[in-house]
Amino acid sequence: MAYGKPESDSVQASQLEQLLIWLREDLMGELQAINQYQAHIDNIDNAEVKDLLAHIRDDEKEHVAEITHLISRIDAIQREKFLEDHTVEGDERVVSGEPDNRVPTVGSMFGQK
Ligand SMILES: [Fe+2]
Repeated sequence: MAYGKPESDSVQASQLEQLLIWLREDLMGELQAINQYQAHIDNIDNAEVKDLLAHIRDDEKEHVAEITHLISRIDAIQREKFLEDHTVEGDERVVSGEPDNRVPTVGSMFGQK
């Protein structure tokens, strides 16, 4: 980088692409953490520990959402893909953020959200 000279568009683009690579790696780590906490919750026979790990697991879910939103702000194609619901046909699509009562959630099976 030259001092006093603005970075070229190609330098900025490559920096953003590297940032996206790191964010995708971070996202994988957060998803793996959720699975690991869930596996431990399922195998620990101590209510207090289970509750604490469930709280931490849910924090990881928040991290997934934060990183996903950050990626969508930087990657326009990914943002478009997040807005599209490819799991069902047109009229059946659920608006992002709205509950889909046609399918069970892990929480709904236990009387939770
Ligand atoms: Fe995390």
